[in-house]
Amino acid sequence: MSQLTIALSKGRILKDTLPLLKVAGIEMLEDPEKSRKLIFPTTHPQVNIIIIRATDVPTYVENGAADLGVAGKDVLMEHGASGVYEPLDLDIAKCKLMVAGKVNAPPVNGRLRIATKFVNLTKQYYAQKGEQVEVIKLYGSMELAPLMGLADRIVDVVDTGKTLKENGLEPLELISYISSRLIVNKASFKRKSDLIQPLLQQLTQAVAQNKV
Ligand code: ATP
Ligand code: PRP
Repeated sequence: MSQLTIALSKGRILKDTLPLLKVAGIEMLEDPEKSRKLIFPTTHPQVNIIIIRATDVPTYVENGAADLGVAGKDVLMEHGASGVYEPLDLDIAKCKLMVAGKVNAPPVNGRLRIATKFVNLTKQYYAQKGEQVEVIKLYGSMELAPLMGLADRIVDVVDTGKTLKENGLEPLELISYISSRLIVNKASFKRKSDLIQPLLQQLTQAVAQNKV
């Protein structure tokens, strides 16, 4: 009997994905937020869930170490996830990928310095605009970079705008609307279609119900 592995990350993706999986008859037997384990069986005998960092989800799925995963479009854009199928927008973890800067900052002479954890997509964005910029890789708390003079701008996800506001920053440009997507390993999509197709159908219905 073949097995399906689904890769999820702790936090908002786990919280928003579990109710969708429940509609498809898949529930975790243990709360991963309270456990140090990384592999979890579910109420579905053929489905396991692994818990990894959000940015590692495309890597696991692309290489077939997981059959399915849930990842933010920001993470997929950054990873360049052409190696996986992306059959369903789960319409969860919605936010916007934006350029932001200090409120009322004076114009910058010369190259803009942009701090972000999304180095690849930021380079692509500015290349498309025909602007030469310097991209500075950070791993978090991007909002601090303009305040400390490390960068002129940041590229990060924005939801309510509260984090920007509380740090004296303002949104400047919208790069993309973001939501989380179901991603599927290409080989698994064919080889395990008996398991994946019904799951995909049930998740599609669950997403539609969520929207009502
Ligand atoms: P890690 O903490 O492992 O570095 P992460 O911080 O990107 O990863 P989460 O904060 O759980 O992980 O975010 C997961 C996804 O949720 C992001 O890739 C993005 O698509 C979306 N997201 C991030 N921040 C918000 C937010 N404030 N509101 C809504 N969605 C968000
Ligand atoms: C994310 C993101 C922003 C914030 C935006 O951080 O990195 O800092 O949300 O949300 P807002 O516009 O509603 O303020 P998150 O809360 O996920 O914390 P993290 O730094 O641990 O990822």
